[in-house]
Amino acid sequence: PQTVVTIPVVVHVLYKNATQNISDAQIASQIAVLNNDFRKMNSDFNTVVPNAFKPMAADLELAFCMATKDPNGNPTTGIERKSVPSNFDFEGDYYIASGALAWDPTKYLNIWIGQMPPGILGQAYLPDAAGLELDGLAIGYQYFGTIGTVSAPFNKGRTATHEIGHYFGLEHIWGLDGSACGTSDNDDFCADTPATDSPYYDSPTFPDNQLTCTPSANGAMFMNFMDYVDDAAMAMFSNNQKTITSNTMAGPRASLLN
Ligand code: ARG
Ligand code: ZN
Ligand code: CA
Repeated sequence: PQTVVTIPVVVHVLYKNATQNISDAQIASQIAVLNNDFRKMNSDFNTVVPNAFKPMAADLELAFCMATKDPNGNPTTGIERKSVPSNFDFEGDYYIASGALAWDPTKYLNIWIGQMPPGILGQAYLPDAAGLELDGLAIGYQYFGTIGTVSAPFNKGRTATHEIGHYFGLEHIWGLDGSACGTSDNDDFCADTPATDSPYYDSPTFPDNQLTCTPSANGAMFMNFMDYVDDAAMAMFSNNQKTITSNTMAGPRASLLN
């Protein structure tokens, strides 16, 4: 089995105004969330994950730290800040026109913080983007960390947890968007996450079979980090998801450990 590995993170804050220039403490609050969620040490695990699903829950054995050396080997906080123009298109341009070019994506997990289009919390690239300069995550400044500019229902840092799930190769529980039950792309390649037709939102009550492809006693694993429920309603990764993230660390993202 894998042992715990620590991923160096660089956060590029691309701000249009003082509010968007989130604090070091807010960034630290997000790293703390990641170090709980990816180790099955999140304090809401016991209350949010029903007993029926606890045996399927995994410690992904992934840890995160702010980078301590920049690409030139100089000491760094792992936080880069850059003022961008009011018409800056964050989603489209975060890795180019900003001047906040990625730090070598084969060595660092790059996270860009800025103003996403309305209704979009974050986005991430799957491991097939490994090494490309856009590889990493973009997260809206209102959804990162647990203090400062965040507010309920997206104030527990789970957007970054979810996006980093994608970064390590995890698909949504329902497979590709628009792939209903019975279609070929309705699959996340995890047998222990019951197939569903489409995302769950808000804070569903266990057990729920409204969106499951095959009804069962436990129903949907809507409290999985790779669904779309509120931050306070998601609290686990599964054992089969761990197989995927471990394979990613042994394969396309192995260079992060050098
Ligand atoms: N919509 C985003 C995505 O698919 C993230 C959703 C995160 N959900 C949350 N409760 N924070 O990548
Ligand atoms: Zn997603
Ligand atoms: Ca599944």
